[in-house]
Amino acid sequence: MLRGSKVGLRARHEDDIPVLQAELYDDVVTHSRANGQPWRPITPGSKDSQLVVDDKEQGHVPFSVVELDGGTLVGTATLWGIDNHNRSAHIGLGLLPSARGKGYGTDVVAVLSHYGFVVRGLQRLQIETLSDNAAMLRSAERNGFVREGVLRSSAWVMGEFLDEVLLGLLVQDWKPDPQG
Ligand SMILES: CC(C)(COP(=O)(O)OP(=O)(O)OC[C@H]1O[C@@H](n2cnc3c(N)ncnc32)[C@H](O)[C@@H]1OP(=O)(O)O)[C@@H](O)C(=O)NCCC(=O)NCCS
Repeated sequence: MLRGSKVGLRARHEDDIPVLQAELYDDVVTHSRANGQPWRPITPGSKDSQLVVDDKEQGHVPFSVVELDGGTLVGTATLWGIDNHNRSAHIGLGLLPSARGKGYGTDVVAVLSHYGFVVRGLQRLQIETLSDNAAMLRSAERNGFVREGVLRSSAWVMGEFLDEVLLGLLVQDWKPDPQG
């Protein structure tokens, strides 16, 4: 397990999937805002669920997020789009509603940055988020990510096009402890 100050990132367990599906995936608005793909219902137990991990998929590393104190499941975290030529990857995360606003998101970004830079030897990490997602923007910026641009009307979300912000962090600018 990878450890932050409040949360740990571990492999996805079979019994994580129904919890993540009910509390995260089945929230249509949150899913539509966070995933960039159309929501559709997934049959319980389906192998097509995005939450089922394909261990052979080298460029996509999904974790389950747990509280260090007690091990309760609190969300998902993913290093995706890993490009070993350009040595870059993207970060994605989603916390269960009861786990938001406690500093866990900031901690998850710190742990994924450690995984990307130290374990995987990457040079650049990138986050795309809706321009009104204040908690995600702040979680990224607390870890040293800088806003590199606005992707105008790039996301179709529940009936409207919204802007996304592109944030990046280079390994030489990374400070392992989140900064204020
Ligand atoms: C986005 C998300 C991962 C952030 O994680 P979090 O644990 O809620 O965020 P934190 O508690 O670490 O807060 C980070 C900062 O944002 C601020 N913040 C938290 N919730 C906020 C809110 N609703 N509005 C404004 N600011 C907020 C915090 O005060 C903190 O700022 P500070 O460092 O200056 O004190 C989480 O809210 C979530 O899972 N949301 C739904 C899914 C999603 O949007 N995923 C990202 C898709 S790109």
